[in-house]
Amino acid sequence: MGNASTGAKKIIIAIDGPAGSGKSTLASLLARKYNYTNIETGAMYRALALKAIETGVPLDDEAALSALAQRSRIELLPRLEGNCVLLDGRDVTERIREQEITDAASRVSVHPAVREWMVDSQRQMGAGGGVVMEGRDIGTKVFPHAEVKIFLDAAPEVRGNRRFLQNPAAATQEKSVLEELRQRDLRDRTRANSPLVPAADAIILDSTGLNLEQVFQRAVEIIEPVIQPRA
Ligand code: DC
Repeated sequence: MGNASTGAKKIIIAIDGPAGSGKSTLASLLARKYNYTNIETGAMYRALALKAIETGVPLDDEAALSALAQRSRIELLPRLEGNCVLLDGRDVTERIREQEITDAASRVSVHPAVREWMVDSQRQMGAGGGVVMEGRDIGTKVFPHAEVKIFLDAAPEVRGNRRFLQNPAAATQEKSVLEELRQRDLRDRTRANSPLVPAADAIILDSTGLNLEQVFQRAVEIIEPVIQPRA
């Protein structure tokens, strides 16, 4: 997969899309190809949701959640296979993938005060460029001037099936995975503050009929002309 040659610009690559669209996998492959830092912003909402549950802060208490965020240290350490997530110095990488936290993260993320804190932190993390940042609002809100914006999508059935195959033991039935995904999609897409929508200038990449290699190739075709403009 070769690295970008010297002289290439260190840009911001924003990847947004719904759950199960393959954002994390694509982001980590692109980060490896370009030697960029991969930042999984969903992990930050997940880490805060975990802390809220552990400390008994209700998921609908915006002020308390925002105060909790202010006194939290959430770190994303880049690794080849994705981010290692530290919450106040503790490794919570595995724990935040559990279903209870997945659902809680979506609830925590509806609050404007929580989002404001997250967006500020994410802007600081990506300020120097050379990042692949993935989430729901990167191209619309966190970095509206990102040089590359990809909105990765896929049919719900395909996304549900991918999630099921990722962790069949965690789900009793594929149908329940799909149902959970639909509910989370609905919440993420219809919340008042920064709902999941493609930025006006995002390139929509529908991976429904594509395999991973094809999605990766398509993303590289989008990125190359921006990163290595012809003289
Ligand atoms: O990408 P993920 O599944 O780890 O995200 C978990 C939740 O966090 C998701 O339901 C919506 C929210 N989220 C968000 O609102 N904005 C982001 N930039 C990233 C995630």
